[in-house]
Amino acid sequence: MAPKILAFESCKGKLFLAVLFYNVVAFTFVNDFHFLLHGHTSFVVNNGGQRTFTSVTVFSVKMRGGGLWQLGQSMTRRLAQADKTVAHRYFSTEAELKKTVLYDFHVANGGKMVPFAGWSMPIQYKDSIMDSTLNCRQNGSLFDVSHMCGLSLKGKDCMPFLEKLVIADVAGLAPGAGTLTVFTNEKGGAIDDSVITKVKDDHIYLVVNAGCRDKDLAHIEEHMKAFKAKGGDVSWHIHDERSLLALQGPLAAPTLQHLTKEDLSKFYFGGFRILDINGAHCFLTRTGYTGEDGFEISVPSENALDLAKAILEKSEGKVRLTGLGARDSLRLEAGLCLYGNDMEQHVTPVEAGLTWAIGKRRRAEGGFLGAEVILKQLESGPTVRRVGFFSSGPPPRSHSEIQDDKGKGLGEVTSGGFSPCLKKNIAMGYVKSGSHKAGTKVKIVIRGKAYDGVVTKMPFVPTKYYKPS
Ligand SMILES: *[C@@H]1O[C@H](CO)[C@@H](O)[C@H](O)[C@H]1NC(C)=O
Repeated sequence: MAPKILAFESCKGKLFLAVLFYNVVAFTFVNDFHFLLHGHTSFVVNNGGQRTFTSVTVFSVKMRGGGLWQLGQSMTRRLAQADKTVAHRYFSTEAELKKTVLYDFHVANGGKMVPFAGWSMPIQYKDSIMDSTLNCRQNGSLFDVSHMCGLSLKGKDCMPFLEKLVIADVAGLAPGAGTLTVFTNEKGGAIDDSVITKVKDDHIYLVVNAGCRDKDLAHIEEHMKAFKAKGGDVSWHIHDERSLLALQGPLAAPTLQHLTKEDLSKFYFGGFRILDINGAHCFLTRTGYTGEDGFEISVPSENALDLAKAILEKSEGKVRLTGLGARDSLRLEAGLCLYGNDMEQHVTPVEAGLTWAIGKRRRAEGGFLGAEVILKQLESGPTVRRVGFFSSGPPPRSHSEIQDDKGKGLGEVTSGGFSPCLKKNIAMGYVKSGSHKAGTKVKIVIRGKAYDGVVTKMPFVPTKYYKPS
């Protein structure tokens, strides 16, 4: 049996691999920081104790058909109480990684491929992450996000079905309209965030995070079985025959307009259409993960390469291929959550600052998993809240402690880094309610040293979603 790499961890500046070998997990020291760059999801584990080893072994058995993401999730849940926590990141061995249909195209264009949620994805191309981030805001970016999972729910009861699982007012969406929503668990925690669209009354299209795919699909399937057993009419189709491209930035709309006969000028943020783009039958959502105007294009996989090439060509090279590294900077600047970092199983949408996504009717009626917890929190206010920070020290990272000016713990950073647009360090994280107001002075502890920080409103960089004027 070959040793199987489960995870790696950075601790006190060193990198350790967790290796599974004959059902025994060993941590081994390595010195290659290549994978530590960006965008990976972290999980929490007891620092080096025996308990860690046992847990990894147990969950590796459960990993069959699951994945390292699930391993991370399970460990997060089990070990959330661990006294000493360190950041962990996961990856799979190269051979296990899935490839999108654009893999060769990425490599040919200088894409540096890294493992991400079980996929081999470009973290950056020839441009630096800094340049790519700036170019997205000034010109435009094309991202391959085919690792994400597109899903259609169909049937005359698909709306009441989905409303059991998410906080959105799905029934209240107009056909062709969509929203960001959260799948919740019984405790009101977030299973995943997802953009959902009502295509028509008996068809909902949604996209879930790559890292949550197995977990989300299992969750939906389980509830679908029970719902159908009671006579509900709902079925699903997983769009594995399609690829997903995200086109973002000020040149997104003018570029895409060259490739379709349909007028995009009255097609607003959150909207959804099925239309021909570059001769291919596409699902188009005016949405994104950068704060810019833009689109996510679900395209039949056999047409994805042609479409990617056509977009780059029509923009005359101004829209550039952009990797996960800049995607993470862009979404952080836009104040958007990365599931697994900024939102997790034990965090409710209210704590995560997504109260706006709970439909008005849903607040009155509940009827989604964990509604009791969430509705109560709406009344009494959450005890912790997600906020943004500016920081004077080095870039804060996930799990940097946040303290008040007397050194008392307030919470933890969940994402942070240098903002290419603002040219300073930004972060988001959770603090106790009361310390969440913009302007509150805090300390952020990085490698044992406390640096001045201040709570600030998000987004850090103003969003430019395309809305009716
Ligand atoms: C935007 O595109 C133009 C033309 O290709 C280029 O000169 C400029 O540097 C780009 N902007 C950024 C911020 O990269």
